[in-house]
Amino acid sequence: MCGIIGYIGEKNPVDILINGLKSLEYRGYDSAGIALKEKDEIEIIKSVGKIVNLEEKIKDEKLIPSHLGIAHTRWATHGKPTENNAHPHTAGRVTLVHNGIIENAEELREKLKKEKVRFYSETDTEVVAALINKYYDNDPVEAINQALKEVKGSYALGILFQESDDLYAVRKDSPLIVGLGKDENFIASDIAAIIDYTNQYYLLEEGEIAHITKAKIEVTKDGKVVEKEVQTTSMERDAKDKCGYDHYMLKEIMEEPVVLQKTFEPYLEHLEKLPDLTDYEEIHIVACGSAMYAGMIGKTLLEEYANTKVEIDVASEYRYKNIIYDRKTLVILISQSGETADTIAAMRKAQEHNVETLAIVNVKTSTIARESDSQIFIEAGPEIAVATTKAYILQVGIMALLAYKTALTKNLVKEEHKVLEEAEKLPRLIKEVLDRREEYKKVAEAIYQKEDIFFIGRKIDYATSMEGSLKLKEVSYIHSEAYQAGELKHGTISLIDDGMPVFAIITDDTIKDKTISNIEEVKSRGAQTIIISNEKYATDDLQVTVPKISPYFQPILIVPTLQLIAYETAKLRGCDIDKPKNLAKSVTVE
Ligand code: G6P
Repeated sequence: MCGIIGYIGEKNPVDILINGLKSLEYRGYDSAGIALKEKDEIEIIKSVGKIVNLEEKIKDEKLIPSHLGIAHTRWATHGKPTENNAHPHTAGRVTLVHNGIIENAEELREKLKKEKVRFYSETDTEVVAALINKYYDNDPVEAINQALKEVKGSYALGILFQESDDLYAVRKDSPLIVGLGKDENFIASDIAAIIDYTNQYYLLEEGEIAHITKAKIEVTKDGKVVEKEVQTTSMERDAKDKCGYDHYMLKEIMEEPVVLQKTFEPYLEHLEKLPDLTDYEEIHIVACGSAMYAGMIGKTLLEEYANTKVEIDVASEYRYKNIIYDRKTLVILISQSGETADTIAAMRKAQEHNVETLAIVNVKTSTIARESDSQIFIEAGPEIAVATTKAYILQVGIMALLAYKTALTKNLVKEEHKVLEEAEKLPRLIKEVLDRREEYKKVAEAIYQKEDIFFIGRKIDYATSMEGSLKLKEVSYIHSEAYQAGELKHGTISLIDDGMPVFAIITDDTIKDKTISNIEEVKSRGAQTIIISNEKYATDDLQVTVPKISPYFQPILIVPTLQLIAYETAKLRGCDIDKPKNLAKSVTVE
């Protein structure tokens, strides 16, 4: 969601900025733009749609030779995705790019209009530019400081000033780093954008302002200089490569066995390294999107096998609800990026009530990783495809280990050794499941021309269905819904038509006969059923059968099949698989 890159140094910034924008594409965007500066001349080029459109436009321009520039991919919030609304925005002597949302933009716009300021776009960003311009009296840092006192909301800003040859950056509730090079420096939304040039960077903290030249970076907060610690990323340059796969989504699914092994390694022989959930009287799980569905699996496992009651909510609801914290509570936040605005707000809400927070997170330098009370890191590495795959599998894996440890602590586990032996087998079994691509292609061929698809399941299989359905709609744009199998009769069955695909997920032995009856019900109304299970049924349905394993880990074998079916279906439909329309990888605004 919105990407920022900025460069100052000895090179011409155009290629660096464009490459950076391409590395940030995965965040989701609908327009892009670039500003180049040399002395007091500033040149801005913008375009709607993909970065190649911007590149085409740049080719046609005679660009000013420069050594300083900022660039941006915009995911529209205030105003349509038009060229006019694309960043950078200029107001007077200030040009900037922005990620985030200015909540009081309208109020500020009206105030500034009264002061005879004219606006050219519908964006909240232009309002910040105008406000900084208002306070700019040849002291950039002072102007930024003054202006931001009036701004409510979230922002990461890369700023150029007419009379300055330097680059300025500031952030609040939106990520931004300062990359450290030799005779050159950078700003970026994340390290992926600049990894080809440096692996060292400063993490800007809330309210810190960076004044950047090619040789020096000065970070100040409230007028005082802040000593920054140099961070070094372990991200490999080739993490950005597709390694021969057609899409990042496929590459990332194929990485699942390896990253699961890496994530489980510290815990399998040392479960004591995981937190003890029995220390708490109440557990809340809060997350968004797929991370929320991973939480639903966790809730089901904790309740089913560890006799532990769990409340779960999407973060966008949780942050505004009246949550009654009257017992010793642990809030578990699940987030791949660690930058999802709603999940951050939910975390801060719990902390304001002195409630402990535990983050299950991938990006170690993210806001959630840094601000939560304790963390369990998943080792997914960079995930580039917008639709999460490997990170989801690892979130489920950690929830499964937490549920298992809780059950063990409560003396509820009968065959202790068996569960852990099965956990060790998981990477090999996932690989087996991933190797059966031809089966998933067959399913994709059967469904790719359909308009509506349902997923049904009960208990844990319902939680798995939610992710299967989400993945399919995200990447293939087929309308798809997941239902608790028993609920279908209360309305939704009226939508079942001849040939409509219904996926049934069946792995829970205690309830499978019920789901099988539901399959018969939809079949007799014309549905084309596809059974995804851990056992083969003697029916003529299309079937995908995965190895049977401990119920703690069964979803980890089922979901890769659903991910690959979604992938193959999207491929047959010719979709932009890694960057589905309207979606963003990291939802850094509300
Ligand atoms: C976006 C992504 C999803 C992800 C969700 C939560 O919607 O497209 O793939 O599940 O955000 O993101 P997080 O980084 O908090 O896990």
